[in-house]
This record gives sequence, structure tokens and C-alpha cells, in this order.
Amino acid sequence: MAWQKRIKNGTVVTAKDTFLADIYVSDGKIAAVTTEELAGEIDEDVDATGKFVFPGFIDTHIHSRDPGPTYKEDFTHSTQAAAAGGITTVFEMPNTNPPVNNAANFDRQHAHLEAQASVDFALWGICLGHLNEMDIAPLDDKGVAAFKFFWGYAVHEETYQLMYNYKPGMEKVIPPFHDGEVYKMMQNVAGTGRVFAVHAENNDLIQTLTGEVEARGGTTYDDLIAGRPQLAEVLTVQAGIDMARATGVRLHILHVSAGESLKRIRAAQNEGLPITVETCPHYLFLAAEDYDTIGAKMKVYPPVKTAADREEIWQHVANGTISHICSDHAPHTEEEKDGSLWEIPAGMCGVETLAPLVLNAASEGKISLNDVARLLAENPARLFGVDDRKGTLVPGTDADLTIVDMLKEAPIQRENLHSKSKVTAYDGFDVKGWPVMTIVRGNTVMQDGDLRETGRGQLVTPGNKGATVYGL
Ligand code: NCD
Repeated sequence: MAWQKRIKNGTVVTAKDTFLADIYVSDGKIAAVTTEELAGEIDEDVDATGKFVFPGFIDTHIHSRDPGPTYKEDFTHSTQAAAAGGITTVFEMPNTNPPVNNAANFDRQHAHLEAQASVDFALWGICLGHLNEMDIAPLDDKGVAAFKFFWGYAVHEETYQLMYNYKPGMEKVIPPFHDGEVYKMMQNVAGTGRVFAVHAENNDLIQTLTGEVEARGGTTYDDLIAGRPQLAEVLTVQAGIDMARATGVRLHILHVSAGESLKRIRAAQNEGLPITVETCPHYLFLAAEDYDTIGAKMKVYPPVKTAADREEIWQHVANGTISHICSDHAPHTEEEKDGSLWEIPAGMCGVETLAPLVLNAASEGKISLNDVARLLAENPARLFGVDDRKGTLVPGTDADLTIVDMLKEAPIQRENLHSKSKVTAYDGFDVKGWPVMTIVRGNTVMQDGDLRETGRGQLVTPGNKGATVYGL
């Protein structure tokens, strides 16, 4: 027997256990996790003494803008950034141009992204109401990981790009869908058994409140939140829960930002409804008052809210309401982000800083290393049904590994980021706990911060319908 790799003397971390073991890799798969010395030649021996070896981290929420506005980002850059940041699989959002709205565009996107990928990737499918209701089942057959609906967003009629600052009456725009149509989308997706994931902000309320704020000339961050408050998220979350109860769909709330939303979601979970929720680093590490130092870079939708919201979100990370943490990597250029808070687009880079920020939280004792394995690997893989290959260290699954040095201390520095855009809220943020090696199906794509063996990423489609993951 010849081994492709052995990762030796590392501390292996799973959602449940932490133990010393060696990992043997053969043909891109995990062959054994053992304390015994196995016979056979070893092509590459990786000394992980003093390091932690995790199942490869997964980022289920990235927008690479490719094809589309690739002047902001493209898949070559976003997956190199992923590799650099310890991420072995990304899930690419479907709001590209063309979007992933039908089976033909799924195939096109598969080929287009695979030619550039440095880590493995799954594809989201988009729900565009009556515009693609016949395409939902074929997209499921093709292997989308889940369906995304930008609830509360208007999209451009030709490019399908999101209108960040939509106003009724704008031309060439598909306005936000009405509740009846959302209900029908849920019924449709329920038929596939896949997750229906929503951006949750109520556009009616946002129109009224931003109208009021703009009329009085409000330009501060507090004004932005006054226009898109907690209530905007809560209304949509609650409507989603009630429609999910009626349709049986597996509802997933994307990037939750408000404590009150989590109370509603927790209550729905306690009822036994198949409802899950994720959050992102900006809702865990930032709060409204950081705007004074960080500025417009931190404008995202839904907006980062109060310190009280942040604390409540942490509680729901700890008690398992929140299934996983992902980045909502949504780059825009420096120039685009340099304007009035109202006019600029929402979103910032995140795929490369996700794991360092979450590991830093473990260094600070906010979560355990087992929680990190649960939140960045096991749960996302189970939720979307790729756990037969990803998110685990079970022999026979893909040899996707993230090796971490919990003693490494360094600040995040914008100029070190691999994305096209370097817009981040975390420039200068001190981190203790860094990924030092990223391995995808046995190939080392990052070692000590340097990229290696890039460009070999592959599409991963679900092997099962996935599990509704919440609770501990
Ligand atoms: C996202 C983007 O730019 O694609 N922006 C953001 O602020 N989160 C879209 C979205 O998820 O709202």
C-alpha cells in the first residue's frame, strides 16, 4: 500500500471528540484515522505536531459574481481566497448573470466554475417565482445544494442583479415578490425535499421607513438601521415560519441579524418544524457602534444591528439554534463602497476571514474547538446533504482537511487578502488561531499562507436530501 499523504501527530477535532491521531490519505479519501503506524510508502508526510486537524471547513454562502460583475470578484479569486482561509468547499450563490435559474444554466455554471476552482464547490439554485417555477424540479435533479430566494429584494429585469437601493417605479426592474407567490415557491420547493433558504427583510416596511428617514435627511448608521430595523427581518422570518408550517418546506433563514428573529426561529424549532438558521461573522463580531471606526465598508444587508442583538446571536450559537456560520462573501470595489451610506451597495469580502475569526472566538473561549468543527464543517455538510463526502473525518470520505495553529497570532490585513476586492471590516483585527494548511481531496491547496496545487476544485452535488440540523 502506498499512501498519498499522512498527517501525523496532530490533534484531531470533530464536533464530539478531540484526540491525538494520524490521518492516512489514499486516492483523495481519508483511509484511516489511527494511532497505529500503518505499513506502506508515504508520498508526503505532514508533521502536525502541536496543530489541530479539522474536517475541511465549508463556507455555504459566497457571492463570486461570476459570470456577471466580475470586476468585483470572480471564482478564481474567491476560491483562492477560500483556500488561503482554510475553506475546502464553498457554496456559490445563484445571483450571477445569467443566474442559476434552470438546468441549462446549472450545466453552464458547473463548467464555468470548475475551470477556475481551487476548492470544491456546490451550487445554489435561484427561485424567481413564476419566472422559473417549471425549472425547480429540474434544478433539483441536476444537483443544486438548495434553493435561494431573495425575499424583499427587487432584481433587474435583464441582468437579474439585485437592486440594493430599490424604489418603486424604477424601470426594468422585477419588484419584490408578493406573499402569494412566495407561498407558491415554498410549495414547489417542498416537493423537492430541498432547503428553501431566504434572505429575510420586508421590503414594504423598508420602503416606508427609509422614506421617512430620507425625508428628514438622515445619513448616519443609526438612520440606516432605522430604515431597515429588526422588525423588517422579524416580519419576514415570522411569515416564513408560518408559510413553512403550511407548506411543509424546509425553511432556512440566511444570515440572521436580529435577536428577536432567533426567538421566533427557536420557538418554531421547539414545535418540531424543519426550520434552520445561519449567521455570519459580521453579526457576531460587529455592532452598530463599530460604524464610527469602520465606516461604510461594514454596510451589509441585513444591516449589522445592536450589541444586544450580537449577544443574543451568540447565545443561539451556543444553544444550537444556529446550525452554522458562513461568510456571505459579497465583494464590491473600494470605489463602489466609497459613497453615501444610502447609495453604496451592501456587502463585503468574507470567505478568507471566516475561519480565522471563528477560531479567534475559540481562542477567546466563546466557543470550543468542537463547536468550530460543528459550525464550520459537520452541520453545513449535513444540512445540505453532502455529508457522505464532506464535513467529516470518517474513512472513505473526501480527504478535506483544515490544519490549524491555535498559537499563531497575527492581524487580518486587507493587503494580504486574495479576493479582487479587499473591502473588509476586519483590517487590523487581531486573530489568534489561523489555518496553516488547507487540503482538498488530498491536494494541499494552501501551506503556511502560500497557495499550492490550485485550480483542481470540483463540483459537489448532494448525496442525500440533507438533515434539519439544530440543537446540540
Ligand atoms: C449580497 C450581495 O451583494 O450579493 N449583499 C449583502 O449585503 N449581503 C446580497 C445579499 O445577500 O443581500
